[in-house]
Amino acid sequence: MTDQRFEELLKIKETAKLGGGAKRIQLQHEKGKLTARERIELLADEGSFEEVDMFVKHRSKDFGLDKEQYLGDGVVTGFAKIDGRSVALFSQDFTVFGGSLSETHAEKIVKIMNMAMKIGIPVIGLNDSGGARIQEGVVSLGGYADIFLLNTLASGVIPQISVVMGPCAGGAVYSPAITDFIFMVRNSSYMFVTGPNVVKTVTHEDVSFEDLGGAETHATKSGVAHFIYDNEIETLNNVRRLFNYFPLNFMDHAVEKEFDLESLKPDVRLDQIIPDNPNKPYNMKMVVNLLVDDEDFMEIHSEYAENIITGFGRIGGMSVGIIANQPQVLAGVLDINASVKGARFVRFCDAFNIPLLVLVDVPGFLPGTEQEWNGIIRHGSKLLYAFCEATVPKVTVITRKAYGGAYDVMNSKHIRGDFNFAWPSAEIAVMGPKGAVEIIFKKEISKAINPVEELSNKLSEYIAKFANPYTAAERGFIDDVIVPNETKIKLISAFNLLRNKVDKNPKKKHGNIPL
Ligand code: HXC
Repeated sequence: MTDQRFEELLKIKETAKLGGGAKRIQLQHEKGKLTARERIELLADEGSFEEVDMFVKHRSKDFGLDKEQYLGDGVVTGFAKIDGRSVALFSQDFTVFGGSLSETHAEKIVKIMNMAMKIGIPVIGLNDSGGARIQEGVVSLGGYADIFLLNTLASGVIPQISVVMGPCAGGAVYSPAITDFIFMVRNSSYMFVTGPNVVKTVTHEDVSFEDLGGAETHATKSGVAHFIYDNEIETLNNVRRLFNYFPLNFMDHAVEKEFDLESLKPDVRLDQIIPDNPNKPYNMKMVVNLLVDDEDFMEIHSEYAENIITGFGRIGGMSVGIIANQPQVLAGVLDINASVKGARFVRFCDAFNIPLLVLVDVPGFLPGTEQEWNGIIRHGSKLLYAFCEATVPKVTVITRKAYGGAYDVMNSKHIRGDFNFAWPSAEIAVMGPKGAVEIIFKKEISKAINPVEELSNKLSEYIAKFANPYTAAERGFIDDVIVPNETKIKLISAFNLLRNKVDKNPKKKHGNIPL
């Protein structure tokens, strides 16, 4: 072949790499945003990205589009490695028609998603797009639908991560929404079904882009975003971090890190965490941090429904999904948002063979008309359903309260908890001592010569009977009562033992989770 042919190829590739051109790249940088290719460089292991479909161009002729052609058509797609493990990637290029999605742009995404499903590797999508390519009309809408369908078919087969790094509006939001995790960047990304102008027309509300659908809004109010960071570099570093906890597909297992079991000593700091007064809050994150290797816990939804904690860590080198009540927020009560947040997390872990550690300190479900009228029955049952159907190794530690229905829900023995441990501070009962005594001894207390003394006597009786882990342990509902400082050792041996656990649900098309 002649040198001229090689030069021609090089020239085409150099042009493709410029996307919408130097001027638009400059504009992108001026907005504090990186280009599609710069993002991939940061996300993937150095030199590992193998691009496909660089030569693809759109096929539209309307509105003069045939005179405006860019190689790659506004999305960079291909395969790369993250810490040596394969991943399929797409990265929308805002410098080409605002990253808008055309028929061919969609075909490129669909192609790598189909490949990822066949190979069994995760898909990461970097979204930065003005939505449907307006000039293409319904063809572009069809392209979105093709992606939505694949997002759905891939759900539970391979992990899917969406990183929103610019606009993501209209129906386009539903692709990230179906994927497993959404990352957003503070002050430069937004997601909404209808923008501020439409909102103004329809509801007369004045709202900014940021307030309506910025990262902060979705991390705190709507729960749409699982992770938010200050800038793109930090965001992409954390995508890499999250990727490490996942297997490549539903038949794979997460990579195990080396762990020196010999050096593990009982951690007496755990013995100091539970206050003597059962009504005093404490920070469950302290417990979580002391249980995970290197105190390295990657929290999900850290600012949303903070009464429940979800996230990934390693225990004895094994990747584990941790779900814990947080007594420091609303006393750790389960409400609608906490139930939905927890349920989705449990289902992700179960779909991808990630064992679950459940830390329990829960006074029950949140009472009140607001919760009842908004469907705490429907939503609370999601968490129950998720724990019931999960067949991954499931280990529970009750640190303090496990009251009422919430005791059953939080991975109790009855719903296939494999190892259920309790600390001596555990209180496992239908309800807290005061509420219980006031109901069952109502008559005795009201008739007593000294009602205060009678209440106190009955309280002591109730506490002796139920405000401990032993009544449950007598029945085998608790496998062992353990001192806090030996918890990590117990967990490592439990998860090791459960390594080859096999449990199955009845054959069915799919269950009908209460949505
Ligand atoms: C074609 C588009 C485009 C689109 C932007 N561009 N959005 N081209 N289709 N949807 C082009 C612009 O013409 C411009 O081209 C370049 O991208 C950059 O856009 P700017 O407007 O200059 O950038 P900026 O000021 O940063 O504003 C970004 C934006 C705005 C907020 C995204 O472009 C915008 O509002 N776009 C339209 C968004 C929209 O309504 N999309 C349809 C949503 S409905 P030049 O040549 O000047 O560089 C939808 C339905 C999905 O998406 C349905 C799925 C089922």
